[in-house]
Amino acid sequence: MGQIKSIKKILKSIPTIEGNGVKLKRVFGQPHTDLLDPFLLLDNFHSKNPDDYINGFPWHPHRGIETITYVLHGEVEHMDSMGNKGTINAGDIQWMTAGNGIIHQEMPKGQKDGLIQGFQLWANLPASNKMMNPRYREIHAKQIPEIKLNNNVIIKNICGEINGVKGPVTDIIITPEYLDITVPPKTQFTHKVKKGHNVFAYLINGSGYFHH
Ligand code: FE2
Repeated sequence: MGQIKSIKKILKSIPTIEGNGVKLKRVFGQPHTDLLDPFLLLDNFHSKNPDDYINGFPWHPHRGIETITYVLHGEVEHMDSMGNKGTINAGDIQWMTAGNGIIHQEMPKGQKDGLIQGFQLWANLPASNKMMNPRYREIHAKQIPEIKLNNNVIIKNICGEINGVKGPVTDIIITPEYLDITVPPKTQFTHKVKKGHNVFAYLINGSGYFHH
């Protein structure tokens, strides 16, 4: 058994306006990039009121980073300067490598009752790959393996390896892990992480205790 990682900081998301007036929760951003390297930003868009998000994120550029969009409720329509066009539906993930530059737009649409929920994570590219050609990975919900552990913990493995099962996002330069984990009440979950890697957990629902 290795060392247990200690908690360095507990963050509370901050209400922020992004894009064309989208009200979202910024989980972390600029002041915490040293702590969370290579991750630069995590936004949680979560609202039942279309006025909060309907004007979306019209045409804007990205460069030198990866933007990773994970939708839980509703959908996000997108198109870009390379001619790509599509919809990220509930449970889907889009892993976009901006590389040497891309201009795109992302327009959220709520489900029938107006609810939208999702995340956008930004990951920095190492200097040697900053100017690589842009690329996309569109991963549909059904491609994401769901692993149930003996203690009924359920893990949706987007990127990484759990009990020998690999997530559908592979061949990523920074070798990240991205897991959507459901822990039942009074249950403990431990996860082994690579040495030297920074880790963060964002609580979507409920409450939990993190050992430190
Ligand atoms: Fe964007």
